[in-house]
Amino acid sequence: MTKTVLEVKNLWVEYPARRGVVQAVRGVSFDLCQGETLAFIGESGSGKTTLGLALVRLLPKSARVRQGNILFYQNGRVQDVLALSQEDLRQFRWRDCAMVFQGAQNSFNPVLRVESQFYDTARAHGMTGTAHVKQRAIDLLRMVQLDPNRVFRSFPHELSGGMRQRVLIALGLLLQPQVIILDEPTTALDILTQRSIIEVLRKLKKELDFSLIFISHDLSLAAELADRVATVYAGTIVEIGGVYDIFERARHPYTQALTHSVPTVTGDLRDLTSIPGSPPDLIVLPPGCAFHPRCPFATQRCKEQEPPLEPVGEGQFAACWNWREAMNKT
Ligand SMILES: Nc1ncnc2c1ncn2[C@@H]1O[C@H](COP(=O)(O)OP(=O)(O)O)[C@@H](O)[C@H]1O
Ligand SMILES: [Mg+2]
Repeated sequence: MTKTVLEVKNLWVEYPARRGVVQAVRGVSFDLCQGETLAFIGESGSGKTTLGLALVRLLPKSARVRQGNILFYQNGRVQDVLALSQEDLRQFRWRDCAMVFQGAQNSFNPVLRVESQFYDTARAHGMTGTAHVKQRAIDLLRMVQLDPNRVFRSFPHELSGGMRQRVLIALGLLLQPQVIILDEPTTALDILTQRSIIEVLRKLKKELDFSLIFISHDLSLAAELADRVATVYAGTIVEIGGVYDIFERARHPYTQALTHSVPTVTGDLRDLTSIPGSPPDLIVLPPGCAFHPRCPFATQRCKEQEPPLEPVGEGQFAACWNWREAMNKT
């Protein structure tokens, strides 16, 4: 039995800019189940961070959510995240849904010890009892494979980037959220540290039953962690499905190009073909399918009509007019 914890329906987010309107998230819909890891992959600038920020309503002031629903299910209740009051929103963040931002490991308050970061977060969200907070923090630090005796009293600068990222993950789990969003949690860390963070996340997932939204441009990490994968192109999901299907039986030409450009999970190198052309300008999108200028399978229809996500396999959906042709040629 899989329970839905989060349901996003037709979400549109834009940033007005001098040159025009940046269409950062365009009609995104998906659901997330209890205990599931859903990875969002795609090139830089495709709208992944904007999507994550929209889910916890932490978009910059200039952003506009033009349309959509974000529904959060818990204990038989449903909350519409976009309709929450400021106070309810404060509770929703961290308690129900926590997010660790891209690059956050470098933005710790430098004058606060790790313990204060835990106490402050707890206090801000109504978690009381110093002893209780301390115990939970120490348990979590152990779970992320840090030595609590050393780390709890440390200042951020005394820790490595990888250790700071683990502290942030532990901090994100402090209030026992149902959902945690990790935006590029391993970017800027060396390969070994990346691996160990992925290991930590796997272990945490086994011990605590949260759902995870994992945002990454690193496909091999997504492949190791995700149950399902969504490919994002030009602000929209162009393919979504089980991790195996996405990596072994991608139907969208963009997913195919992405997954063919990295080594597979099993370690055998495929053709390192990079995708010709460049990502589209989100202010002036190409008509029809946004991927058509870079797509080897594009036809006249692709230049005129944007394809909807449609079933292409068991639990797999792709937005491509020519996925059958693409399938036969790869
Ligand atoms: N605060 C902002 N103001 C204007 N444009 C923005 C802002 N943040 C992001 N963008 C633009 O929105 C698009 C999506 O960005 P982002 O969500 O950061 O993508 P990703 O996380 O996939 O790299 C990009 O074109 C980016 O330049
Ligand atoms: Mg990003």
